[in-house]
Amino acid sequence: MNSQPAEVRKNELESFSVESWEEDLIRRYPENTTANLEEDEESFRNYKDEIRPEVKEFYRLNHRYQTLDFATQKKESFLKFNRRKMSVWEAIEFLNELVDDSDPDIELPQIEHILQTAEAIRKDGHPRWFILTGLIHDLGKILCLFGEEQWAVVGDTFPLGCEFSEKIVFHEFFADNPDFNHPEYSTELGIYEEGCGLDKVTMSWGHDEYLYHVVKDYLPEPALYMIRYHSFYPGHKEGQYTQLMNQHDIEMFSWVRAFNPYDLYTKSEERVDVKALKPFYNDLIDEFLPGKLSW
Ligand SMILES: [Fe+2]
Repeated sequence: MNSQPAEVRKNELESFSVESWEEDLIRRYPENTTANLEEDEESFRNYKDEIRPEVKEFYRLNHRYQTLDFATQKKESFLKFNRRKMSVWEAIEFLNELVDDSDPDIELPQIEHILQTAEAIRKDGHPRWFILTGLIHDLGKILCLFGEEQWAVVGDTFPLGCEFSEKIVFHEFFADNPDFNHPEYSTELGIYEEGCGLDKVTMSWGHDEYLYHVVKDYLPEPALYMIRYHSFYPGHKEGQYTQLMNQHDIEMFSWVRAFNPYDLYTKSEERVDVKALKPFYNDLIDEFLPGKLSW
């Protein structure tokens, strides 16, 4: 399936990188504040007015093209894992190519941001599986290197096959999504049963869902929830879609929330000594995810 829509406004997307969406998240959910931007209407309006054009264009495409059909087809294609065999460290090095291309003078290599997240978790004394989760949680972004468009790799995720929550940023862009007026997909429960559990729910396609399926047989359940739902801001930050969750999801989401600050607020311009840290992280990888994985 061709994921390059004809009407992409190319110029506007030119300066978008996978990090642009995360920078935008930090503006939407500033550190050290419990205030919800969206509840303060004026702040939220200001936030939206200040969003850079490439980020807005990114949300427009994401909301226009993430349909139940699209996510189902992408799962069929990518969950065959027939593209590459790589160890976790090789996948980290592969992902590093993504950012090296864009702006090597300003941005730290992706590998250093990955290690900053993991090191922050380690310094706070969390268990080894939690540190590993910090290390690997964004490896699904290698989808970009498999030729996927950025709007199909990053961005807030949300359930498909039921109505789009109004709390999803730029909800208005869903008006152009074919599922928006679909008789079955546009109700509160859509194709699902109340409390069915998120495992039965098809989420919008991206790096979270992809990596979850790569590692799902190897890591403890809280780690899998962190990986699978870390971009599900409408769920873990805005409290939406509880009608689809079961009691177990609700309990596990405390882990997703515990992970979120490490995801959003640990990246800095401070250099990381990759060589010095590599032995510790290779041991950690060998403990849970040894050898080559199928991607
Ligand atoms: Fe991510």
